Amino acid sequence: MDINGTTRVCGLIGNPVAHSISPVIHNRLAGLRGDNFVYATFKVEAGNVAAAVKGAYALDILGLNVTVPHKQAVIDELVDIDELAAAIGAVNTLVRTEGGFKGYNTDILGLDRELSDVGISLEDKCVVIIGAGGAARAIAFLCAGKKASELYIMNRTLEKAQNIADAVNEYAKKDIAKAAGISECGSFDKKDYIVIQTTSVGLHPHDDETAVTADEFYENAAAGVDIIYNPYETMFMKLMKKHGKPAYNGLKMLLYQGVAAYELWNDCKISSDMADIIYEDMKKELGISE
Ligand code: ATR
Repeated sequence: MDINGTTRVCGLIGNPVAHSISPVIHNRLAGLRGDNFVYATFKVEAGNVAAAVKGAYALDILGLNVTVPHKQAVIDELVDIDELAAAIGAVNTLVRTEGGFKGYNTDILGLDRELSDVGISLEDKCVVIIGAGGAARAIAFLCAGKKASELYIMNRTLEKAQNIADAVNEYAKKDIAKAAGISECGSFDKKDYIVIQTTSVGLHPHDDETAVTADEFYENAAAGVDIIYNPYETMFMKLMKKHGKPAYNGLKMLLYQGVAAYELWNDCKISSDMADIIYEDMKKELGISE
């Protein structure tokens, strides 16, 4: 990489940032495309988000990714925000514009692209989201935006699922979302639903765990996506496959959130061949074998 006087800089703010895969995604993309661009990580403490964003703008930084714990706090520092990101209430990408940064949520664009890659359309489908954390909230808005006909948010803590369902119904201006306890999944009476697993259950080193154990739930599903990518095949995915249903992990979501940010910053379109190369690099970097 040849860094010189006209190199554009992007980076990641969050805490911690040291183990982020994002530098691999962006610096490799810049290398493949021959862009004069570099991506670094910046550890930012909770009280310093406003100073970091202002400083980045003053330093002519082209854009930033934002990770935990700043995805909500950063919203106060923007001059503009994408409509879906505003509804979700979380921003992970800042793009330089006149007078400040505009915020986007490319986590959700990443999942959208993964779903279309694997041939899953949410339109007119019944979707079940397992979990009700930050990721589940963003995904619930995507489901509404993609015109899912019904949405069930199943969580151990019912109140958190209800909060998301209420927010999504208000956004969609109709009652598409319902909350349910995760223990109800065994008696869930729908068929051919798409399941999106967003809890932390099953994350390495707890490879043998899953938030949903009922066989009937897997039997009646059409397909499943786990947003976990380590292990590469989670217990949730194994159980889906055991019942003959296709199942995908979250590595492409991670890849495409980066690709979407890179495209916004550099006003370009990354080809699927290029995305495939980055995907293989990510697997190598994360020590993932299939
Ligand atoms: P993120 O922001 O990444 O989505 P989070 O906000 O920490 O993560 O949410 C974690 C999700 O995993 C929650 O839905 C949580 O359920 P609760 O809301 O009931 O806490 C779920 N989760 C974590 N451990 C769980 C477990 N052992 N069984 C079932 N659900 C669990």
